[in-house]
Amino acid sequence: KRPAGAPDKALARTVTKVGIVGAGLMASQLALLFVQRLQVPVVLTDIDDDRVAKGVGYVHAELDRLAAKGRISRDRLTRYRSLVSGSTSKAGFADADFVIEAVFEEMSVKKQVFAELEQVTGAECVFATNTSSLSITEMAADLQHPERVVGFHFFNPVAVMPLLEIIPGAQTDDATLATAFAVGKDLKKTCIRAADRPSFIVNRLLGRFMGEAARIVDEGTPIEVVDRAFAGLAPMPPFVLIGLVGPAIALHNGETLVRAFPDRFYASPTLQRLVAAKLPGFYDLSSGRPVLTPEAAELI
Ligand code: 3HC
Repeated sequence: KRPAGAPDKALARTVTKVGIVGAGLMASQLALLFVQRLQVPVVLTDIDDDRVAKGVGYVHAELDRLAAKGRISRDRLTRYRSLVSGSTSKAGFADADFVIEAVFEEMSVKKQVFAELEQVTGAECVFATNTSSLSITEMAADLQHPERVVGFHFFNPVAVMPLLEIIPGAQTDDATLATAFAVGKDLKKTCIRAADRPSFIVNRLLGRFMGEAARIVDEGTPIEVVDRAFAGLAPMPPFVLIGLVGPAIALHNGETLVRAFPDRFYASPTLQRLVAAKLPGFYDLSSGRPVLTPEAAELI
């Protein structure tokens, strides 16, 4: 059955090579998923050799782990490993049909990435963005081919979370959208079409939930108590989730929503302090049991 709002799949273009801009945690999780499910060459790029090596290293290590667990055969391991490569140059994207960016969540950075991509890719290459909150229409507006840009928003951890939000901008054409839905299906994700509104669907819902949890903490209830109140209600309590998605992303999402809908969302000073202190989250998760870190406790 065709997902609601998806164009006829006959319009979808074949994808024989994928480019990924960024080699951070999200980008390398995407590379791992694309190589396993699409089984085509996947090229990761980033601004320096260390980041690229780290991204490719993550994919190789995860593939090794899956093979050691017997989840993929030795033959597949060798093939998948050889399909993943990395570079600091985007020249390898020249023959890519589908490029996804997962760089810093800042409109000007994303626009710059797409402007550079237009110099190296063919005119029909789809430009997908894993933005969690920014406008697809605005991101595409200055390009020669804005019709090829589409939102393609994954959730953390990418290997486990079933959902993919697909977001057309005002100028996205049907061939681009159909390709995005076809790729999403090949990735075995549940694809939904979301409107190009701040934070789309999931992060807008999550923003209310996280904002209210933060407000309760800012009113004086300890973080661990708020998190414990979620026992059985959600797979992960709100302040543990902040560590999973990254405090900067959580804050950025909250701030985007406050700007868009000031009467309904809340920017938490506690979260702002966590990001300013560059801490990875509120908890130390190494023991398997969340323990509030002394640095985080000091910020509250
Ligand atoms: N990478 C790959 N696989 C992972 C993983 C990771 N980081 N973390 C967990 N998994 C896998 C495990 O290997 C295991 O797989 P298996 O059953 O096949 O062996 C499975 O997930 C379950 O893991 P665990 O038993 O260790 O732990 P849990 O049952 O507690 O599940 C969880 C972990 C899946 C992360 C679960 O806690 C969860 O669903 N949390 C909520 C996550 C969430 O809400 N994500 C959305 C965040 S919002 C977002 O990403 C949007 C962005 O724009 C900000």
